Amino acid sequence: MKIETDIELILNEQVRHEFESAYAYLGLCSALNALNFDGFAHWMRKQYREELEHADRLIDYIQSRQGVVQLQDFKVKNFTLKCPCEAFKMAYDLEVSNTKNIHRAYELAVKKHDYPTQVCLQWFITEQVEEEEQCSHYMGLTHRIATDGNLQAMMELDRIAGER
Ligand SMILES: [Fe+2]
Ligand SMILES: [Fe+2]
Repeated sequence: MKIETDIELILNEQVRHEFESAYAYLGLCSALNALNFDGFAHWMRKQYREELEHADRLIDYIQSRQGVVQLQDFKVKNFTLKCPCEAFKMAYDLEVSNTKNIHRAYELAVKKHDYPTQVCLQWFITEQVEEEEQCSHYMGLTHRIATDGNLQAMMELDRIAGER
């Protein structure tokens, strides 16, 4: 059954959100690299690739329902950071806002009785819980370490993040 126009539209918006997230993570990767925190930069780079996969997953889904993928513009942000804790705060806020977007799309799919789209979005709902948890973990630790002014601990955490 062909996808309905308003579902197609909200999924296309979600494709844009995934690319926006990807670019934000790439920007954070670059900013952390500039601070010589290569491990955190690597962590962000992995997130960047995951967001691209999310966009791909939605694109495949839209097309499998005979929908049309319409690429949308977005504003690219570059970041200058003083501390890795700022990067993880931004990443966490980004994930929370993306969770809200996915929930909105899911609500529309429920309203429209579009069961396949609900199933597709359930994967994203589960994924968001994991992503928020990961960001929150690093946000909490980097914030505490920064508050203590413990560079050694920050470097150790950076090393751990680099093993991801
Ligand atoms: Fe995503
Ligand atoms: Fe994400």
